[in-house]
Amino acid sequence: MKMNIAVLPGDGIGPEIVATALDATIAVCEKYGHELTYKHALVGACAIDATGNPYPEETHKICMESDAVLFGAIGDPKYDNNPSAKVRPEQGLLGMRKQLGLYANIRPVSTMPQLIHKSPLRQDVVEGTDLMCIRELTGGIYFGRPQGRSEDGNVAYDTCVYSREEIDRIVRLAYTYAMQRRKKVTVVDKANVLCTSRMWREVAQEISKEYPEVETEFMFVDNAAMQLVQWPSRFDVMVTENMFGDILTDEASVITGSLGMLPSASVGLHTSVFEPIHGSYPQAAGKDIANPLATILSAALMFEYAFGLMEEGKLIREAVSASIDAGIVTVDIAQGEKSYKTSEVGKWIVDYIKNK
Ligand code: IPM
Ligand code: MN
Repeated sequence: MKMNIAVLPGDGIGPEIVATALDATIAVCEKYGHELTYKHALVGACAIDATGNPYPEETHKICMESDAVLFGAIGDPKYDNNPSAKVRPEQGLLGMRKQLGLYANIRPVSTMPQLIHKSPLRQDVVEGTDLMCIRELTGGIYFGRPQGRSEDGNVAYDTCVYSREEIDRIVRLAYTYAMQRRKKVTVVDKANVLCTSRMWREVAQEISKEYPEVETEFMFVDNAAMQLVQWPSRFDVMVTENMFGDILTDEASVITGSLGMLPSASVGLHTSVFEPIHGSYPQAAGKDIANPLATILSAALMFEYAFGLMEEGKLIREAVSASIDAGIVTVDIAQGEKSYKTSEVGKWIVDYIKNK
C-alpha cells in the first residue's frame, strides 16, 4: 500500500517521541512492503518562532495532502506564564483540529497487566478496565463565540455552543463503536445545569432508539469523574463534549499507570491525526527520558484507523507490550532502578518489529 503521512513533532518532547514512532512506522512499512513517504511540518511554539503562526498555511497544506498525520505535542512554558500573549501554541492545535474538521477524538483506555502496579488505584479497582472515550473536538466552550473581555478588562467570558448536527454525528459514532464492543454507551453531560447538555441528552435519546441492542446510560460529569476512579471497568464507550472529555481522559489515563501510555486518534472530515494524549512536557525536552509509548501506540492506531492495516497495528502493540515485559522502559514506568532512554526504547521496539 502507498502511505503518505505528515509528521508534526511540535514542541518540548514532541520531536523525540515522534522520532521513535516514525522509526517504528518505517520498520513496519519495510516489513510489510508498504511504500511510505512522509513530510515534516511545523506546529505550535516552534511554528510561532519560525513563522509567527502556530498552524502555518504550509503545514495545513501538507496535512490536507497526506493520508494521515502523526502528531507529537505542543506547548511552551514561556506562553503559559504570559496570559497576555496574543498568539499561543495551543491555537495551532485547535486551528488544526478545526481546519481538518476533526470532530471526534477517540481515546481508548485499557490496562496492561504488567503496569497495573503503577496505577495510583488499587489493583482490584483497575483490573478489567477497557473503555473508549469519544470526545467531541471541534465544538463547545473551546470554540464558542463570543469569547473575550469587557472593555474595562474586569469581566471575561467564554461561550459553550453546540448544534444538533454536531451532537448527532459524534453520538452516532459512539454507537457505531459500541456495536463493535460491549454494547454500552455512557453519555456524559451536565444536563441538570447546562442547556447544551440538555440538547446532548435529547439527541442521544433519539439516536439510542435506533440501537436497541445497545444499553444507554446518562451520567452527570461530576458523577462520571467519581465513577472513573471508583469502578472504571463499568464503562464501555463514553461520549462527551469537548471540555468534559479533555478533563475525564487525563483522569482516565492515570488508571493505566502512566499518562505516557495513552494514544489517541482524531477523525472527522479531512485527514485524521494520531497523537498521544499527554502534553509537551517541557521539563524533559531534549533529555531523552520521555515515554515514547503513547506516540508509538498512536502510530498503531494510524495503521488501523487511517489505512485499515490491522495486522500492522497489532504488531506495534505487541512490540510495546514485549518491551514492557523485557523491562526496556522509560523511568516513569520502570520497576526498580533500571530504566532506559527514549531512544533506547524506540530502538528496541524497531528491532523487535524487524526480527519478528
Ligand atoms: C489535549 C490538550 C489540548 C486540549 C490543549 C493542549 C489545547 O490538553 O489534547 O487534550 O485541551 O484539547
Ligand atoms: Mn488535554
